[in-house]
Amino acid sequence: MARRKLVAGNWKMNGNRAALAELVLIAEAARAAPGVDVSIALPATLIAPAVALVPGFAFGGEDVHAAESGAHTGCLSASMLAEAGASFTIVGHSERRADQGETSQDAWAKASAAHRHGLGVILCVGETDAERDAGRAARVVQAQIEKSVPDLATGDWLTIAYEPRWAIGTGRTPTLDEIGEVHAIARAKLRTLVGDAADGIRILYGGSVTGANAAAILETEDVDGALVGGASLTAAKFVPIIEAA
Ligand code: G3P
Repeated sequence: MARRKLVAGNWKMNGNRAALAELVLIAEAARAAPGVDVSIALPATLIAPAVALVPGFAFGGEDVHAAESGAHTGCLSASMLAEAGASFTIVGHSERRADQGETSQDAWAKASAAHRHGLGVILCVGETDAERDAGRAARVVQAQIEKSVPDLATGDWLTIAYEPRWAIGTGRTPTLDEIGEVHAIARAKLRTLVGDAADGIRILYGGSVTGANAAAILETEDVDGALVGGASLTAAKFVPIIEAA
């Protein structure tokens, strides 16, 4: 099945209102590449101003709480993100797994909550350095998908991002064969969970994607796009990745 490529940015805890000018340039490049979907996850405080500045562009949150509301100081619900103008959210990012101790079960609950409120979801999975060295990368990713993909998920709202933790922000990437291997394993796992709907679910690669390596990564079998951290912060670095798709 032909899946449209998605190039998604993740600003993490970076950016301020002055940086939003980059989004105008990025949105222009996205308009010039109608065959590619482009979106950016932003710090929550920037979502509403970004939507006001570039209406119609797909902005998202970087995390969401699984509960509808209540005593969860510092957290944001899916309805809050949607009201701010987000159209999707990331869940299960490895930085939240590492910093906040989030589990795949948490990612499942967050993805389900986001879907209930009409948000798309980019669900992140990926092994650590030690897990890869121990030959466990595939098993780790399979287990994360098994525990975190909600029943009846479809590509209309769910995207998987394979982000090996050791490749994030390090300038190191797996070989193209290694990326293709994990993506194929991830899709096979999805098939056991959601059947043929697995063919419609995009699987992005994330971890040190740049304008220099994007074309080769995006041409790899079963790679349906990229989730980009550092190189999504400026149009100068992000636009070449959009163009490579
Ligand atoms: O979510 C994107 C990410 O973790 C990859 O970050 O900076 O290696 O592109 P980076």
